Amino acid sequence: MADKKSQLIIEEGAAPIEFPVLSGTLGPDVIDVRSLIASGYFTYDPGFMSTASCESKITYIDGDKGILLHRGYPIEELAAKSDYLETCYLLIHGELPNKAQKDEFVNTIMSHTMVNEQLKSFLNGFRRDAHPMAVLCGIVGALSAFYYDSLDNDNPKHREISAHRLISKMPTIAAMAYKYSVGQPIMYPRNDLSYAENFLHMMFNTPAEIKPINPVLARAMERIFILHADHEQNASTSTVRLTGSTGANPFACIAAGIAALWGPAHGGANEAVLLMLDEIGDASNIDKFIAKAKDKNDPFKLMGFGHRVYKNFDPRAQVMKQTCDEVLSELGINDPQLDLAMKLEEYALNDPYFKERNLYPNVDFYSGIILKAIGIPTSMFTVIFAMSRTAGWISHWLEMLAEPHKINRPRQLYTGYTQRDYTPIDKR
Ligand code: SDX
Repeated sequence: MADKKSQLIIEEGAAPIEFPVLSGTLGPDVIDVRSLIASGYFTYDPGFMSTASCESKITYIDGDKGILLHRGYPIEELAAKSDYLETCYLLIHGELPNKAQKDEFVNTIMSHTMVNEQLKSFLNGFRRDAHPMAVLCGIVGALSAFYYDSLDNDNPKHREISAHRLISKMPTIAAMAYKYSVGQPIMYPRNDLSYAENFLHMMFNTPAEIKPINPVLARAMERIFILHADHEQNASTSTVRLTGSTGANPFACIAAGIAALWGPAHGGANEAVLLMLDEIGDASNIDKFIAKAKDKNDPFKLMGFGHRVYKNFDPRAQVMKQTCDEVLSELGINDPQLDLAMKLEEYALNDPYFKERNLYPNVDFYSGIILKAIGIPTSMFTVIFAMSRTAGWISHWLEMLAEPHKINRPRQLYTGYTQRDYTPIDKR
């Protein structure tokens, strides 16, 4: 990295405090403020608007240009030409696999898809109407109670085994949560199917009827998995890194990521988009909801719109919309919610409030419409997001643990009471 310098002068006449400026291969330079504490100051950046929390080689986003690269490959190319397990390999190892490497990786993942049979009784502890994200969070957090033979974070082989177990078993656990919620028997995984086909098999087949998986739906599922796989230092990935920095086991780290993803401002937005479209009902109500979204006194936000980084189109949303069109036309579905979503997008993109704030559709705006067309219930949308993002979370966890690292422990601007004496209760 170049040896550029920056200076901070806090008081007139005081000696400037000097900081190195570090350059990456792409993106803004960073001011390395790690030495600032020695001068008795903290930086202050609630929401981490201007903070680079780490160095990473996995994903690059250019929010102004709408660019998303995974290990240098554009998301549009991976969505069109790759598959999810190949993308997982790329995120973890940094290079696309050759045929032998891909076959070995796919075989490893697809031969660890089963979960310990006792997990079924764990599942029975939930109410049938439990939100599947609660089930996923609970079960994944408990996996360390079943897979404790490889939890030494300092052992690269243990890290690799846990990474493979998580990628392999997430679809099985997700489908278990769904089957439990609809009162159907759990379908065991089939290792002869592709990752996406196997997930759809476990979701929609029953012991009474095993139907072949529609290749259009499998391809759409594969593309949805690729589009959600990783996204730099988003809230849930930052949560996984922070949790991992304490030395917590990988299952606890991924459970923490699932919990963070669940929020409607983050991965929970795909479910919230469909609920919002239901609430809007038809195009005659768009005006009213756009006004609500602009009203500072109204907490309502246009779900699926806006992004901390993208101030242009989210490239994933564009691929998702194209996939939406393909899936609906292949299935001969004329979904009024898609028409409504497109009208809402057109209206918002022409509204000064949204234009001034660079609010564009994000990855969550169209994904729910495809998932609904595939037959996946709204409550499972964020579960699908979590399944896919497991690859990204694991890649960042592995990247962090491969190098010496410190526990993530931010400081604060304290504005509470200065020290005062205890007041006895009869004096209060
Ligand atoms: C994901 O980080 C990632 O990479 C996330 C993600 C990933 O792959 O991991 O891309 C996945 O989480 C996508 C985002 C999904 N969330 C939503 O669709 C929920 C709706 N969006 C908003 O909540 C919001 O846009 C965020 C949370 C996504 C981003 O919020 P920021 O960056 O903190 O921006 P902000 O809230 O400060 O908004 C700036 C302005 C504000 O208005 P002013 O104070 O300037 O007047 O834009 C307004 C906001 O009120 N605004 C919106 C809006 N989003 C922002 N107004 C109405 N509707 C919206 N959706």
